[in-house]
Order: sequence, then structure tokens, then C-alpha cells
Amino acid sequence: MHRYLLYLVVLTGVIFACQPSTSVSDSSPAFPREAHRPLYHFTPDSMWMNDPNGMVYYEGEYHLFYQYYPDSTVWGPMHWGHAVSKDLVRWEDLPVALYPDEHGLIFSGSAVIDWNNTSELGSKDHPAMVAIFTYHDMAGEQSGKNDFQTQGIAYSLDKGRTWTKYTDNPVLDNPGMRDFRDPKVFWHQETQQWIMIFAAGDHIRLYQSPNLKDWTFASEFRGWGNQGRPWECPDLFPIEVEGSGVMQWVMIVSIGKGATNGGSGTQYFVGNFDGTHFTLDPQFQKGLKRDSAYWVDWGKDNYAGVTWSDIPEEDGRRLFIGWMSNWQYATVVPTEKWRSAMTVPRQLELIDTKSGTRLISNPVEELKALRSDRVTLSKTQTLAESTGELILSFDLEGAQEAVLGFVLSNGIGEKLTVGFDSEDNVFFVDRSQAGKTSFSKAFAGRHTAPRSSDNQQLNLHVFIDRASVEIFADDGRTVLTEIFFPNEDFTELEILGVDQLVEGIKYSLQ
Ligand code: FRU
Repeated sequence: MHRYLLYLVVLTGVIFACQPSTSVSDSSPAFPREAHRPLYHFTPDSMWMNDPNGMVYYEGEYHLFYQYYPDSTVWGPMHWGHAVSKDLVRWEDLPVALYPDEHGLIFSGSAVIDWNNTSELGSKDHPAMVAIFTYHDMAGEQSGKNDFQTQGIAYSLDKGRTWTKYTDNPVLDNPGMRDFRDPKVFWHQETQQWIMIFAAGDHIRLYQSPNLKDWTFASEFRGWGNQGRPWECPDLFPIEVEGSGVMQWVMIVSIGKGATNGGSGTQYFVGNFDGTHFTLDPQFQKGLKRDSAYWVDWGKDNYAGVTWSDIPEEDGRRLFIGWMSNWQYATVVPTEKWRSAMTVPRQLELIDTKSGTRLISNPVEELKALRSDRVTLSKTQTLAESTGELILSFDLEGAQEAVLGFVLSNGIGEKLTVGFDSEDNVFFVDRSQAGKTSFSKAFAGRHTAPRSSDNQQLNLHVFIDRASVEIFADDGRTVLTEIFFPNEDFTELEILGVDQLVEGIKYSLQ
């Protein structure tokens, strides 16, 4: 007999009343809603956005910069857009932070607080916020050169509001590699130096610096994991393996094409970093056949995600956000005024499993502030809003139905199906009938992720926001993020597997 514990938390627009971001206030009930504009995910007010950049925490604010083209809803000359949040939930969009200059467009990168004033761009009392990014010299690329990507820096002394480019940019020249981009910088305490990790097409490069201005080559990492191309937007950070006191290093690598469900995706590696070399953990390495990978997220729409810098030690979390799209169709998705959203912010953790150390992700605790109302579910249900948080917990013992999960639908026959298929032991999102799909052949489909847990209890923690679904299964061991574009909002919710089990349902109001 199944047992169910389930509850639904419905988000309403009211909770965003104090939200100053134009994109979100447009979405509040007082305003007509734009088609597909999410309610609680960050979107630019207008125009094109891709990767999250320069995430850094400073004086009570989480900064989120992002690849931005202010003149069009398709990718073009890149700037860094800028938003801040005090709570990772409500975002305030600010003016553009970095504009292209004579060295090129401003591609992806990171930001740090230079607490010890190693760069001498601020002072110890008033440290500089330093952004490290890739310059992309369009003219150089077009004239057939190979060294058109270099790394540059800029600094801000007013909490990221205004920026000055460093006069001796670029700080790292290109030795002749067509892909040479996306620097993520961090302070390595043990060796007292800055480390820059970035991607070079088919491998990762690591550099060292005492001052953020002078960089020396340290090492490369290549040949492991998914070999889709190009490798982009890496990250490298330590996390304690939960409950063990043991620190391991995680390297994140996004790949442009060739991810598990097609197109872009983000893989990770677990290992050790000694200040110069990253080496794989032997047990992790054992599970990695050439071209296999462990994915941060198995869905099609979480790309180029990296983690926040300078989260205070007393907080200690490793916080991540990704771009909720895929290069296969990002430039043609059917939104009019703007293109694309970020994922919800997530906390990354390492856990020990029978097969070795694994990365898990879960929505940040702060998102609970969005919960305004709890609704207990019956088998089918009409929702006031197609936004919400759904927490389902199934006991698999004696399961009589192959699929456990839910269907979201509207009155014109469109539907999104999400769940666990016990016959194939996979989680899935089926968006093949979820509305508009004709904009790209690569969009419609049923996308899957193998289950890695064999627990009797199966938990699905789900965030729905009009045009996206994020599924954190088995407490974050398997994650799928997907976007969709119904012609009318989904307002019908059906729980799959409930039929024969109604007597077994318990509602938890927690
Ligand atoms: C990843 C990426 C980065 C690059 C940026 C350009 O999506 O291709 O490698 O810096 O986008 O916008």
C-alpha cells in the first residue's frame, strides 16, 4: 500500500509587492502579465540575457551580474547587466555595470572582494570589488586572428554601482587559442594567492597571481568527463563532505554542445586542489569512463552556472545560480520583450554515497519566504496561479502505477508531465505537448535522468513558475530544470498515481 504525504504551497503576487524590479512589478496582479514572464525568477526587464556573472556577496547584498545585450532580444555585443538582492529572493535590477571598450565585448567572468588590497585598487578599510572577465575582440575574430579573447579586470569602490576599467588591461594575453574565456577567480588561503580558472575549448586552464593583475600559468585539466565542446564557464571550490570533516574540491565545467539531454549542460568533478593542480578523487575517477559525466542538473535548461564569492564564513554555504536556457534554442524562445531567466538560487553540498562522493543541489532556504499559502491536494486541482512549490513524497513499496508525479495542463489540451518512471528507473520531464515548440526542433521531448538513490521513499521538491519547472529529486541528488511555453497558463494539476491510493493519502500541513 502506498502512503502519501503531500502539500502544495501556492505563491501569490502579493508577496512581491515590495519588489522594485520592473520585471517583477509588471507581473504583479495589478499589472497585465506578459506571456511567460516568471513571477519569482530573475529576468531582465527587457532584452537579451545569458550567463550569470560576477556573483559576489558584499555588505549585505548578493550581486548578480549577467551577460546582457541592451539593444536586442537576441545575443549581441555583450555587456554586464547587474542586479542585487538582500535575500536571494527579491532582485533589484540596476543600471548596466560594464560596457564594451576598445579591447572588446565583455564576456563571462567573476568578481571578488580584495580584502587585503593585494591589487592596490582600493584600501584595506575600503576594499575594492574586482571583476575579472573575458574581453572578446570582435574585429580580431573577424580578421581571422586566434588570440581575440583575453582577460581583463575592472573595479568598483561603491558596492558595484560604478566601475573603472584597469588601465593596463588586458591582464592576461592570449597565446593563440580561439577559446580562452570565462575566468572564475578565488583566493586560495593555503598558498596565499589568487587562482584563476577558465576554459579553453577542450580543456581547463589554471593561473596564479599575488595581486589580480599579474598572472602566471599553473596547470591544465583535460581528458575527463563529457568531451562535448566548447568547455565554458568553469568554477572550482572546496566543500566539506557532509558530516565527515573532510574537504573535497569540486570543479564545475559547462559544455556548449553534447550534454546528456542534448545541447548545453553542466558537469562536475570531485577531487583535490593543491594551489597549482586539480586532481580527481580516485574513487570519483573510477566511475568516470571517458565521455561519461556527472551532471549538476540533468534537465535541458541550466547552463553556465557558477557559485557566489565571499559568502561570509559564518554562513558557509556554497550558493549557485544558472542560466535557465540552452544554446540550442535560447535565441528563438517565444518571449517578446526579453529573453531568458535565471534558475532559483541553489545550495550545493557534497555527500558520501555507496558509489563515492556526489554533489547535490537544493533550493536555498530563503525561498521559503515566498510561501504564502498551503493547499492540500486532491487528485486533481485547479490552481489560481501557475506558480508554486510542490512537495511530494511517495513510498515506492508495492507501487502499482509505473509513473508517480504530476501533470500540469490548461483548457486547450496542452500539458507538461513530470515524474518518476519506475519501469525505467528514471525521472523525467515531458514537454512535448506543453505548448509552443515549433521555434526549434531541439525543444520538444521527454528528457530523463537516472535515479541514483534506492530509497524506498521518493521525494520530489518542485518549483513551478509559469514557464519553468525545477525538480529536486531525492533531496537534491538528481535535479532537472526545464522551460516550456504554454499558449495559456497551466492551471490544472493532476497528481499521478493517486487514483487507487486515495485512502492512503495523508496531508501534511507542517
Ligand atoms: C556561455 C558563453 C561563454 C561566453 C558567453 C558569451 O554561455 O558562451 O563562454 O563568455 O557565453 O556571451
